[in-house]
Amino acid sequence: MRAPFRVAVIGLGNVGGALARRLVDDADRITMAAGRPIALEGIAVAHPEGRRAPAPLLLAAQLLAQRQLDAIVEVMGGLEPASTYISTALQAGRQVITANKQLVAAQGPPLACLGPLRFEASVASAIPIIETLADTLAADRIGSIMGILNGTTNSILAAMAGGASYADALADARRRGLAEADPSADVDAHDPAAKLAILAMLAFRRRIDPSQIVRVGIRDVGADQIENGRRRGFVIKLIAAATTDDGGSIQADVRPRLVPADAPMARVHGAMNAIAVDAEYAGSLLFEGPGAGPDAAASAVLADLIRAAKDVPASAGSLLATLADAPPATVFPLGPTAQYPAAS
Ligand code: HSE
Repeated sequence: MRAPFRVAVIGLGNVGGALARRLVDDADRITMAAGRPIALEGIAVAHPEGRRAPAPLLLAAQLLAQRQLDAIVEVMGGLEPASTYISTALQAGRQVITANKQLVAAQGPPLACLGPLRFEASVASAIPIIETLADTLAADRIGSIMGILNGTTNSILAAMAGGASYADALADARRRGLAEADPSADVDAHDPAAKLAILAMLAFRRRIDPSQIVRVGIRDVGADQIENGRRRGFVIKLIAAATTDDGGSIQADVRPRLVPADAPMARVHGAMNAIAVDAEYAGSLLFEGPGAGPDAAASAVLADLIRAAKDVPASAGSLLATLADAPPATVFPLGPTAQYPAAS
C-alpha cells in the first residue's frame, strides 16, 4: 500500500468537526477507497487553548509551515484569511480542498492557477455536481442550470409553509448547523448567488463575477404570500438560475419564484437542494440531495480528499484556471418571467 496521504484541516466549526470525526471513525473504509490511509496531522483554529479534537490543535501559521503535508482542507469560510492560507498552501506545493463558495466564486480562477484546487463541497454539499460539470460533462454544451442551492432558506420556506414563524424557522436552521455564521448570507441570497456563479463558470466556461448576479432573498416572503401561492397551486422556492445562448450572452439571477406544486423542484424539502442541468447531448439531468449540514458537506470534502490521495486530476480547478485572464462576462438578470414566475 502507498504511504499515508497527510492532511491538515483549517477550521473546526460544524463541517471541520464532522470531517475530523469521519476521518477517524471511518478510517478503514476511507483507506480502502483511497488506496492508502488518509492521516489527519493537525487542525488549525484561532484559539487552540482548552479545545479538544481528534488531532493536534495549532495555529494556521504553524500548520502551514509543516513541510510533510500533502494537502490542506480549508473549512473556515470567508474571504480572508482563507484566501491567504489557500494561496500559501498552493504555492508550497500542497493540494487544497475547500468548501468555501464565497472564495471560489470571487477568486477561484486566480487561486486555481497556483496549484490543484478542489471544491466539490462548495456547491450543494453532498450532491456531486462540481466534478460532474467539469469532468463528466466536459465535452457537452450546457444551456441552462436551475435549482435550489441554499438549504437554510429552503428549510425556512418549508417550515413557514407548515405554520412556523420566520424567526423560529431561522433559529431551527441555525441549530441544525445549516446556516452560515452570518445567516444574512443565506436569507439575502449571497450564498446561492456565489454557488450559481461557480456552477455557471463550470457549465458555460465563462468568468462570472458573483456580485453581478441580481439576487432577491427571502426576508420579504410572508406567510400570507406562501398561503396565497398554495391556494393557486404553487410552492415558493428560492430559485437560482442561469442560461446562455449561442451568442454567449448570460442571464442569471436568484429570487423567490412560484413553482407549480407538482414540479419536481417543488418537492425538494428541508435542507435538500436540487439542480436541473440542460445539456445538448446528455439531455436534461436532475440532481437532488442534502445541500447543507455538517455531514453532507464533510462527505463532499472527503470525496475530494480521496481524489487527491489517488492523484486524480483536479478537473474543476483546472477549468477555473483557464478563466483567470478572461474579463468577467456581463450577466443580465433572468427577470420575473423566466421558467417560473417571480413570487413578488
Ligand atoms: N448555509 C448553506 C446552506 C450551507 O444553507 O445551503 C451549505 O452551503
